[in-house]
Amino acid sequence: MSPLDSLTPAERARQLANPDGAIGLAIAAYLNDNNKTGNAATVALLAIQPGNAVLEIGFGNGRTAAEVLRQADGVRYTGIDHSATMVAEASRFNADMADRASFHLAAADRMPFTGASFDRVFSIGVIHFWTDPVASLKEVRRVMRPGATMIMGCLSPRGASGIHQPAFGFHLRDPETWEALTRAAGFTQARAEERPIDHTAPDGSLSRRYLIRLTGSA
Ligand SMILES: C[S@@+](CC[C@H](N)C(=O)[O-])C[C@H]1O[C@@H](n2cnc3c(N)ncnc32)[C@H](O)[C@@H]1O
Repeated sequence: MSPLDSLTPAERARQLANPDGAIGLAIAAYLNDNNKTGNAATVALLAIQPGNAVLEIGFGNGRTAAEVLRQADGVRYTGIDHSATMVAEASRFNADMADRASFHLAAADRMPFTGASFDRVFSIGVIHFWTDPVASLKEVRRVMRPGATMIMGCLSPRGASGIHQPAFGFHLRDPETWEALTRAAGFTQARAEERPIDHTAPDGSLSRRYLIRLTGSA
């Protein structure tokens, strides 16, 4: 039984996009369990170097920060999320790393950072909620140092299920579209790859989903 089971499709989609309150906390924990392997794989692919400044967009309950800090010496983790519930939970959970990790209430299209602040940027399960991806990608690029890289994981339209549609706030785009949008935002390189994963739904049923990994260089 997942916390998503008790919700209508509209409530489920709203909580996935912006987890709120006690149910939001339960959903974030469930999501993090589901995404743990994908999150760790993405962090490994970032090839984080000693002393790097790393930004995560949409950190949910903040369970990936420790994985980032483990990658190399002197790494600094910064996260943003537009859910006050998630910022409070991530800050509480990671309180013992407050000297190396900070969690900010902010949206991706308007981040409270000066330009050229980060060496690595990543997100999991976030960019498919963006209604104006070029605006947010431009903002991501603004805060990246020259030569910095980003990796964003999101759902592909292929194999998507019922709630994954614009009416519920999901804007799924194919790999070619993501590459074009990333270039339009000014990235020097953009590459989007699709791969299948076998997904277990909250009710236990199995289905094949497709994820996109979008990589860009500033
Ligand atoms: C589906 S959850 C994924 C959480 C986490 N990355 C994980 O894999 O478990 C999406 C998260 O991104 C946040 N989010 C969605 N759109 C955002 C935006 N435009 N700016 C900042 N945070 C956003 C939500 O509040 C939520 O915490």
